[in-house]
Amino acid sequence: MTGKFITLEGGEGSGKTTNRQFIEDWLKARGIACVVTREPGGTPYAEKIRTLLLDHQDEKVDPLAELLLIFAARAQHLASLIRPTLAAGTWVLCDRFTDATYAYQGGGRQLDMTLVATLEHLVQGTLQPDLTLVLDIDPAVGMARASRRGSLDRFEVEQTAFFERVRATYLARAAANPARYRVVEADASLDCVQAHIAAALETLL
Ligand code: TMP
Repeated sequence: MTGKFITLEGGEGSGKTTNRQFIEDWLKARGIACVVTREPGGTPYAEKIRTLLLDHQDEKVDPLAELLLIFAARAQHLASLIRPTLAAGTWVLCDRFTDATYAYQGGGRQLDMTLVATLEHLVQGTLQPDLTLVLDIDPAVGMARASRRGSLDRFEVEQTAFFERVRATYLARAAANPARYRVVEADASLDCVQAHIAAALETLL
């Protein structure tokens, strides 16, 4: 029995951190062993790539270089953490995964989606999440929340139009594959958001 693979997606300020904790607690209360991780990053080597991706740079980062670094980090994360954990029967909850690449590099940076799909196939083979929760929020509301957290990283300084494209890509992907995705309205009350998430998790049991 392999573990289930859950991914959590959403724009900036959509409440991923709070809800990640909720999911972890929900699974724990049901006796389900789960490793919580994130992308880009999740292993020491991949976290070094995360720093390269999120820190501001003196030179303009080429979108293709960015895309390749994201998949390099993902290859490492899959090989050293995600695949072995799932194979051992333990669940994995990952804060962002390849849907973020479609949304940010495909939607936001406007790279060709087929390029993302080619790298996805190369790096993941047939591995896909069992459930992807998309915390959906108006980018203006989300960015206002994110800005209150302090200094902004290399993605967070993008303009609203970028985040509108990110959101539209998440929603289009979810609409195209309703079996895997649940879109959760993240601007609702926390109780409402978490009831929605719990209902989605129930479907995995
Ligand atoms: P976060 O951990 O606060 O969500 O920040 C990670 C940032 O990295 C976020 O702005 C989205 C970005 N990102 C991509 O652009 N592409 C990806 O594939 C992933 C996983 C994250």
